[in-house]
Amino acid sequence: MTSTNQTTKDRVVIFDTTLRDGEQCPGATMTFEEKLAVADLLDEMGVDIIEAGYPAASNGDFEAVSEIARRTKRAIVAGLARTIPNDIDRAGEAVRFAERSRIHIFVSTSPVHMKYKLQKTPDEVLAMSIASVTRARNLIDDVEWSAEDGTRTEVDFLCRCVEAVIKAGATTINIPDTVGYTTPDEYRALFRTVRERVPNSDKAVFSVHCHNDLGMAVANSLAGVEGGARQIECTINGIGERAGNAALEEVVMAMRVRGDAYPYETGIDSTMLTRASKMVSNATSFPVQYNKAIVGRNAFAHESGIHQDGMLKHTQTYEIMEPQSVGVSKTSLVMGKHSGRAAFRSKLEEMGYRLSDNQLQDVFARFKDLADRKKVVYDEDIEALVDENIATAHDRVRLVSLTVIAGTRGPQRATMRLDIDGRQVTEEADGNGPVDAVFNAIKALVPHEAVLELYQVHAVTEGTDAQAEVSVRLAADGRSVTARGADPDTLVASAKAYLGALNKLIAGTSRMHAQHAAE
Ligand code: KIV
Ligand code: ZN
Repeated sequence: MTSTNQTTKDRVVIFDTTLRDGEQCPGATMTFEEKLAVADLLDEMGVDIIEAGYPAASNGDFEAVSEIARRTKRAIVAGLARTIPNDIDRAGEAVRFAERSRIHIFVSTSPVHMKYKLQKTPDEVLAMSIASVTRARNLIDDVEWSAEDGTRTEVDFLCRCVEAVIKAGATTINIPDTVGYTTPDEYRALFRTVRERVPNSDKAVFSVHCHNDLGMAVANSLAGVEGGARQIECTINGIGERAGNAALEEVVMAMRVRGDAYPYETGIDSTMLTRASKMVSNATSFPVQYNKAIVGRNAFAHESGIHQDGMLKHTQTYEIMEPQSVGVSKTSLVMGKHSGRAAFRSKLEEMGYRLSDNQLQDVFARFKDLADRKKVVYDEDIEALVDENIATAHDRVRLVSLTVIAGTRGPQRATMRLDIDGRQVTEEADGNGPVDAVFNAIKALVPHEAVLELYQVHAVTEGTDAQAEVSVRLAADGRSVTARGADPDTLVASAKAYLGALNKLIAGTSRMHAQHAAE
């Protein structure tokens, strides 16, 4: 068992739940391929446990967890389950092929959850916990038990449950702050109390799992570790239910930068944090807040003259960690229309991209086009171009051209040319506003039933010539997918984002609408 002796650095295990608690929050749905890509990156980054999903929730979740279990090289792959037998068996089946696997069982233990949500007595919840852990241990040696709403649970009952499930074979005990209600002092004390009072507590690793409803998820997680927990459950960018979960990048860097206050170490390669943040943001279409700690685009930006002056004299005046330590390159190479292919390639490499010659050719041509239209091309502009190029590599429906007539006198009209499976088709459509006209033209060219659930516009950089980045979420047949499109023209970006989402739906359905439209 890990000791709490703080003279040397104790190892804290990082349990990432981006693909489960993160993915289950409204609007963060990822496709199968996106989940695999995120899992691969988490594994490469050194995450100890990847909670890949909730296998009993749907066939899609089951398939994703199984595939992640098969391909993950280093991390333990966990599947979530309620205490019911079918959930446990599905979770066991899904993680069966992992090198190292875990079943994670949760059940509510607080009075309010047991009475209203479960409609069970405490004794029934205790019996369900013991039976489910026993069943899971018959499948797998590594079993985690979580007391959902643990911070609002009566401590005596919590201790009874913890003792019983450890006896039944649970190897990790998680006490979640499910509703983001606790405070650092309270959470630290809770772990100390439970570990002291439960006679067999030394037979399990204790875990924190904090939600951010009061903005204290990271502080609470660190306090739980001070109280003796040695596993932190967290998500990239802090995505998760409601206000989200503790952000992985923040807990990792807090322990690294303030090792004097938090003498713990993790196995995370922190130079991959920015890449992971971008990947999750792209897959979910959840933008990262500019001033987000560690991975926000302003986290290492200095604008005021006084700060810049200080930075020029010594970087430690205003920076407590090196940007490179989290994967941000400090060098600001300004790219413009005079830049050549070699400089562009080296810029991409510096930004962490490795493109094939064909991809490079494609992106370089689009970069030149953008540089002709925009005064300064920022790193974010290049990133948007490359990400879009990668995301659309297998698209069957592509935008060839778009002309829109807009203004005070409607109806607004869009004339659109698309390439559908190599054939070019053109259509005109009116709309109640230019965006509506653009989307109507797509519907005329690729008839479909999908419903537009979200339409958001952001500027990639500053200025009136900034690239617009549009996010679109479409839903059809019980699936919802999101995609982004970027272009200095907001309407072109809108068309690209809509087509991106439509392509994802087409790729995932057996009814090939695009095929029909092209015939
Ligand atoms: O927040 C929570 O309680 C959870 C459990 C399923 C661990 O996510
Ligand atoms: Zn949670």
